[in-house]
Amino acid sequence: MNFEFTEEQLMIQQAARDYAQRELIQDVLERDEKAEFPARHVKNLAELGFLGMMVPPEYDGGGMDTVSYVLAMEEIAKVDASMAVIMSVNNSLVCYGLTKYASEEQKQKYLKPLARGEVIGAFLLSEPEAGSDATHQYTSAEDKGDYYLLNGTKNWITNGNSASTYIVMAQTHPEKKSRGINAFIVEKNSPGITIGPHEDKMGMRSSDTHSIMFTDVKVPKENRIGEDGFGFKFAMMVLEAGRIGIASQALGIASGAFDRAVAYSKERKAFGTEIINHQSLAFKLSDMAVKIENARNLCLKAAWLKDHHQPITVASAMAKQYAADVAMEITTEAVQIHGGYGYVKEYHVERLMREAKLTQIYEGTSEIQKIIISRSLMK
Ligand code: CAA
Repeated sequence: MNFEFTEEQLMIQQAARDYAQRELIQDVLERDEKAEFPARHVKNLAELGFLGMMVPPEYDGGGMDTVSYVLAMEEIAKVDASMAVIMSVNNSLVCYGLTKYASEEQKQKYLKPLARGEVIGAFLLSEPEAGSDATHQYTSAEDKGDYYLLNGTKNWITNGNSASTYIVMAQTHPEKKSRGINAFIVEKNSPGITIGPHEDKMGMRSSDTHSIMFTDVKVPKENRIGEDGFGFKFAMMVLEAGRIGIASQALGIASGAFDRAVAYSKERKAFGTEIINHQSLAFKLSDMAVKIENARNLCLKAAWLKDHHQPITVASAMAKQYAADVAMEITTEAVQIHGGYGYVKEYHVERLMREAKLTQIYEGTSEIQKIIISRSLMK
């Protein structure tokens, strides 16, 4: 086992850290307050190559490995989890899915601008009545010969309004259940698409989340990804890679809150000494440090397995479930350590706590991850 990072991985980590600590930090509270999309930062991070990190250079991506991606995601999420999820959806769910499964024509037309970050993408699987139970897709894609006719509604779509390219899962052959689902590349400006209002979320408020309605939307046949009926497997294989991104985001939220808790504990005095000198608090910080290190190791292990073309279903579920649960726990403790200051916005930890909650819900709830892990034990 080699726990050393390469020079390139360290450079990528440093570049993400510099951008987050220098730029994202400046307006993160204001964007959270106003629920404002970070357009300027998306553009800057695209120029730095962070929107298509793992896409091969021949498709205009950064050609980086998944370990580098985990390192960068942690640094961005430490400061701004909204920016991190925009990055994660574009990198993992959209660019990764297209890199791995799209046709050459689809890659030339859609992947390249996404990898350059000129446009961003969204992944449309969840529906009003199909969240965790993703095989029950009610959105239909009727085969009309040289095109498909799309009808239905998708819910909770990250980048729903800011994306130009959608990856949409829809049912073509209901009698075949999950084997009848297809995945399509759909252009957002296609006639028949209506975007619902911005969801007023508890956290990650500057990432835009919307419902998307499809009414008789014509999708050219050449925009189907893979063979007829490949859509559900596609979604699952993309999601299991995507969960490494969300696990790293959760890790970043946890370590961001932890760094603030340690700094505060060294400054704040109570009962005649800095509070870190009280053993009850020092032990709490010690427990938090161990959990963050465990979460980081799970993220890096899943990334390493992906980079070495090994199965990642269980490793990414473990990383996602553990890191998300740890993020919730660590951010709650960080608020507690800050006392009253932790409960006001200026100190950031209450925002990190609100952001942590979502990591236990999206890209498969913590309970879904436990289903995936426990099923592997039953085999
Ligand atoms: N890789 C390949 N194939 C897979 C797979 C995987 N990881 N997981 C399942 N499949 C295949 C199965 O082999 C099966 O295929 P066959 O019919 O050929 O045997 C088929 O898919 C159906 O699988 P299951 O019988 O296991 O289906 P299930 O109903 O029991 O559900 C589940 C499986 C894992 C619970 C799945 O429904 C799931 O992951 N649900 C959570 C969905 C989710 O993560 N949603 C997040 C939305 S995206 C999002 O949040 C993005 C965002 O904007 C931030």
